[in-house]
Amino acid sequence: MSLPSAAYNDDLISFAYPTVRKRWPTILEGAISDLQEHVRKDPSTKQCGEHVIGKIEGLLGAFKNDEELQPFSKEDISKFPYLQKYNTELAQIGASKKVSWHSAPWLYSECYLYQLLESWFKETQLLREYDVFESLKNQTFRKSSFGVLELCRRYEVLGKQLSAGNTEKDALKLLFFEFADISLWGNASDLSLLAGNVTLEDIKSVQGAEVRRKNEEKILVNDIEQAWRQIQGKDARIDFVLDNSGFELFADLCMALFLLDSGLASKVVMHCKEIPWFVSDTMPKDFLALIDQLEDPSFFDKIHESEGERQSITYLVSKSKFYVESGQISTQHHPFWTSCEEFWKLMQQKDLCEELRKSDLIIFKGDLNYRKLTGDLNWDNTTPFAVAIQQLSFLKLPILALRTCKSDVVVGLPAGVNEKLVETYKNMGNEIGEHWKASGKWAVISFCDGNN
Ligand code: F6P
Ligand code: MG
Repeated sequence: MSLPSAAYNDDLISFAYPTVRKRWPTILEGAISDLQEHVRKDPSTKQCGEHVIGKIEGLLGAFKNDEELQPFSKEDISKFPYLQKYNTELAQIGASKKVSWHSAPWLYSECYLYQLLESWFKETQLLREYDVFESLKNQTFRKSSFGVLELCRRYEVLGKQLSAGNTEKDALKLLFFEFADISLWGNASDLSLLAGNVTLEDIKSVQGAEVRRKNEEKILVNDIEQAWRQIQGKDARIDFVLDNSGFELFADLCMALFLLDSGLASKVVMHCKEIPWFVSDTMPKDFLALIDQLEDPSFFDKIHESEGERQSITYLVSKSKFYVESGQISTQHHPFWTSCEEFWKLMQQKDLCEELRKSDLIIFKGDLNYRKLTGDLNWDNTTPFAVAIQQLSFLKLPILALRTCKSDVVVGLPAGVNEKLVETYKNMGNEIGEHWKASGKWAVISFCDGNN
């Protein structure tokens, strides 16, 4: 079967077009000011900070002049062998097309961008481990206090019921759907969207139960029932291939707590990124920080005010700590998650593949994971999910994608839905109707049992 073309940065209709021209420069300018601030606070890092700032400024110039992407140096490769994949792929793409910032394949160039940034930090002595997006991640999570408290309260009531052990199967099923929904819409609070035109008000507006209920019909594909069937009768291990830290991670943690409390799962593994990635993605240290932040009244000053609030938060925090200490919730990381490769290539990562085979359900969170599952190709929107994920559909890995749509690729839609939404989105006053797919207002829940 011949595959459709990839999304390219020079496609006027693609969401790649504004991402490359507006969002990336905004993200990088933000990174420069945060780094400057860091250097002001810790003058010992001045020289290292200036080195990286100089490189980022050079990159902003390269965007403007639409320069070609360069392979990583031999030195980079010797230190970080996985970067070889980037060079191999760059050479392949370059064989048929000039690979410049404005014309490269979107997925490749966006992954390359974050690796490039990381390689400059790694060149320094004092900023090797520095996460340039950490302060932005924290600032935004702080502003999610309302959504956090609402979920803590919901979890407290349920957690206590579940621990009493008298919840019927039908009720458990509905709760499973509810927590999957919470985790799904948690993905709408993505920081890298802040570089576009989404305000914090917009973020708050996707974090409450009321909004989730209203958004039910915005879930265009909903395979959650199949995922439910997948974990029945098992002492399940459930894996999350995480996306963003902050509120989305908090929502994922709530789902993990529910799965363990209810006995639907006995183990949850959270897969993190090894380097700062697409601004807000979760690194192992972000997971640990989240639990500390929840119980720190100076972090969330607005939600530790009453005794009741404190109790709900403490309940969730102590449950989380218990499961982390007992090893029932654990984190892992692997360089494959920050590679430029489609997830179809997972079978070449023997160690990771073996690890994931132990899982009864692998939940891929968010938009970028969905792009990598489907290769970020221009699939016809009615293509079945199992076809779009190619080799992954027969690796015996049960996959559930929980994704709010923030880029062009969407598959598994009933015929006519895309066309209708293009019209709807235009009628909402947007110039490019196709951008409904990138607006974060719609979502898909897609499942494949891995036995195709
Ligand atoms: O920078 C744009 C963008 O790359 C999306 O289109 C992308 O996939 C998204 O950011 C990150 O979304 P998520 O955090 O859900 O993966
Ligand atoms: Mg992300």
